[in-house]
Amino acid sequence: MRGIVLAGGTGSRLWPLTRAVCKQLLPVFDKPMVYYPLTTLIMAGIREILIVTSPDALPAFRHLLGDGSQLGLRLEYAVQPRPEGVAQALLVGESFIGDEPVALILGDNVFHGVGLGEQLSSHTDPKGGRIFAHRVADSREYGVVEFDGDGRALSLEEKPRHPRSPFAIPGLYFYDNQAVEIARAIRPSDRGELEITAVNTEYLRLGQLEVTVLERGVAWLDTGTVQAMAAASEFVRVIEERQGLKIGCVEEAAWRRGFIDDEQLRALAEPLVHSGYGRYLMELLGTRPAR
Ligand code: TTP
Repeated sequence: MRGIVLAGGTGSRLWPLTRAVCKQLLPVFDKPMVYYPLTTLIMAGIREILIVTSPDALPAFRHLLGDGSQLGLRLEYAVQPRPEGVAQALLVGESFIGDEPVALILGDNVFHGVGLGEQLSSHTDPKGGRIFAHRVADSREYGVVEFDGDGRALSLEEKPRHPRSPFAIPGLYFYDNQAVEIARAIRPSDRGELEITAVNTEYLRLGQLEVTVLERGVAWLDTGTVQAMAAASEFVRVIEERQGLKIGCVEEAAWRRGFIDDEQLRALAEPLVHSGYGRYLMELLGTRPAR
């Protein structure tokens, strides 16, 4: 399975923070935001990943992550000239996806929870589309999914005034190779964007949309507003300081997944020893690389 991290957008709800710096490069506590979705893909066992971003931000992402070989990944970069919708990532990434299935993750979505890697790994060869559902207190701000007891989607609604379910759809979508063709056929919405909900709706129409519920032990945070960003930072800080384990640490995830060995982890840690981050990586070396 190929992975795409969508890391463009305007970030207008974060202005002026995002006037000069791309949202997904801003910190969520102790690391750049993009580390979190990247870690999620690594935990799912995905090694070939395309970062889609704006023309201005691309050099900074390349500076941060390079070709990915240091993490045992193959990273490529592509430009989305204007933020014309999440589904456009499937078109920008068309040649990268080739004949493979694809996981698309939004660059500002943070996932954390027990068993997540295993759960995601089991969906890397989807028949049709697989979306996730996460219960939220107020689903009106999100794409909302209603589903039956077998995890089959019944309806999808985008930011409904009267939601049919409390289950929001997080920014992580697993598709078979039809996704590119489906994205090619959809038309811009009233707000002028190629909506990912339109792609999911087409899978639903085909009877090929499955839903996996993320259990209550899994946290899903987005970082679209300053309040949400501060909350995500605080969440990460509290868990990390309490447990002494990091969330969204790409180096650790790659090491635990067996993408890199001890020596490669040490090489990544050494330049970072002046911050606690490098020390943390060094200390991992003494432990068993259990997932
Ligand atoms: P949004 O949060 O919906 O949009 P945004 O980041 O542009 O922010 P704002 O609403 O404050 O202006 O986007 C969700 C994620 O998808 C986010 O990581 C940005 C990314 N994105 C793109 O990269 N390209 C796009 O065309 C869109 C719509 C979003």
